[in-house]
Amino acid sequence: MTGFAARLRKATMVEHREAETRSFISRLMAGSVPRAGFAALTAQYLIVYRELEAAAEAMRGNEIAAPFADPALNRVPLLEADLAHLGGSYPATAAAQRYADHLRAHCPTSPEHFIAHHYVRYLGDLSGGLLVGKKVAATYGLHDGGVSFYDFDHIADPKSYKIAYRERLDALPLPEERLSVLIAEAQHAFSLNGAVFQELGAAYPEEISPAA
Ligand code: HEM
Repeated sequence: MTGFAARLRKATMVEHREAETRSFISRLMAGSVPRAGFAALTAQYLIVYRELEAAAEAMRGNEIAAPFADPALNRVPLLEADLAHLGGSYPATAAAQRYADHLRAHCPTSPEHFIAHHYVRYLGDLSGGLLVGKKVAATYGLHDGGVSFYDFDHIADPKSYKIAYRERLDALPLPEERLSVLIAEAQHAFSLNGAVFQELGAAYPEEISPAA
């Protein structure tokens, strides 16, 4: 890979490594988040994806962004169903509010902002997210609901979907200054996600396993 997709991946590699190894998500993968913490994460995602998917709707007529705004990716109805299943009520963290505000301010009108945020969430959901879904279903015994966010029923093969997605990134008809805005915005998206994870990590500290 030598095109823009490879450049974007490389430019966010350090941020990704951090998310994979030191975040609330890596604790989820280790099974050390209390169930309420997982439900609270789902509630934060709902706040964020509402904005992301409202922007996708706004971008459907935009020549540059429309190929990314695929309704098969939509997560909002699934997050609503998951939250109803998980029960409880979880307020927005300040970090999720900031993330949502940022999306609302930039993504419905700027293709490079929209694509950057779209890439960080959905390509992640189609990658490590699939593993996270399997792990949390096992950790909390969620076999009949609560984790539909992690399933892409309308995408037959995530691997080939991601290949086609990267081809769209490579073919973006944008000048260099707008491509560099996209890169910087993807890095910012990782930090907005990181802030949500950090706030949740503090609110739901390490679950102490019962003594063996
Ligand atoms: C424990 C947590 C995570 C694991 C195990 C994980 C794992 C992975 C793996 C294995 C890939 C490579 C897939 C491929 O090459 O096709 C990937 C890609 C990706 N992940 Fe993650 N991930 C995690 C967390 C995250 C988070 C929290 C985000 C965003 C907030 C994220 C965003 C992405 C993105 C954007 C890609 C696509 C990279 C590219 O090919 O350009 N990941 N992840």
